[in-house]
Amino acid sequence: MSVNKEIKRVTTHTLQDMKGRGEKISMLTAYDYTMATIVDAAGTDVILVGDSASNVMAGHETTLPITLDQMIYHASSVVRAAKRALIVVDLPFGTYQGNSKEALNSAIRIMKESGAHAVKLEGGVEIAESVSRILTAGIPVMGHLGLTPQSIYKFGTYTVRAKEEAEASKLKEDALKLQELGCFGIVIEKIPAALGKEVSESLNIPTIGIGAGQYCDGQVLVIHDMLGLNKGFKPRFLRQYANLYDDMNKAIQNYVNDVKGGSFPNEKEQY
Ligand code: KIV
Repeated sequence: MSVNKEIKRVTTHTLQDMKGRGEKISMLTAYDYTMATIVDAAGTDVILVGDSASNVMAGHETTLPITLDQMIYHASSVVRAAKRALIVVDLPFGTYQGNSKEALNSAIRIMKESGAHAVKLEGGVEIAESVSRILTAGIPVMGHLGLTPQSIYKFGTYTVRAKEEAEASKLKEDALKLQELGCFGIVIEKIPAALGKEVSESLNIPTIGIGAGQYCDGQVLVIHDMLGLNKGFKPRFLRQYANLYDDMNKAIQNYVNDVKGGSFPNEKEQY
């Protein structure tokens, strides 16, 4: 195995230390080699091979259709690219909810076949047995609470979760349970900022927020959203750092015009 000694790999321990000294954690999704190369080189601490690949890569309406084989394909491309970031991979819908043995087998396949460093599962106490079994095999687990997109048909909408006391207290209990089981971090999605703060302060492990306010220990965004590749998607929590849809559209239109007009290729662009 060749080891690059100049770049120090981010580990779950690095994230814990970052929380300890109050240094925020940056996390972004990536699903392919080229994008992961850029995300990693820019200094992102954690790359999430999210099941949002189902939406942004495959064009499905929800995250439910993506398969374990497809997640492994995306994850292995990211693993070949990223030299520094910790790589976390979503266990897709239907590969861990059934029973803990199936969950362990799914997690093992991801670790063995992609070379990623950790897995992420959606849910709290109801998936405790699966989380525990995966952890027992030495596989780091990240939790995911709040708006959990694999349960979209139960929720009915993508609106803010845990605004009511009952759901908020269940979320707090779930977060403590996931910590107690040994998760190294928890993504908390689309919940009130005050709850994001309370959960983050109550845990020793880092929270990574998406639409969960400024007090989380880190933040995650879907790369296509923050780069402005998804033209119509503009939720309040999203800060858009580029406008790549328009930039790419313009570049491609210029190319099409050059080809049609006969100015590409010119004499310097041929052999
Ligand atoms: O799949 C995904 O991209 C995610 C993030 C939204 C946290 O789970």
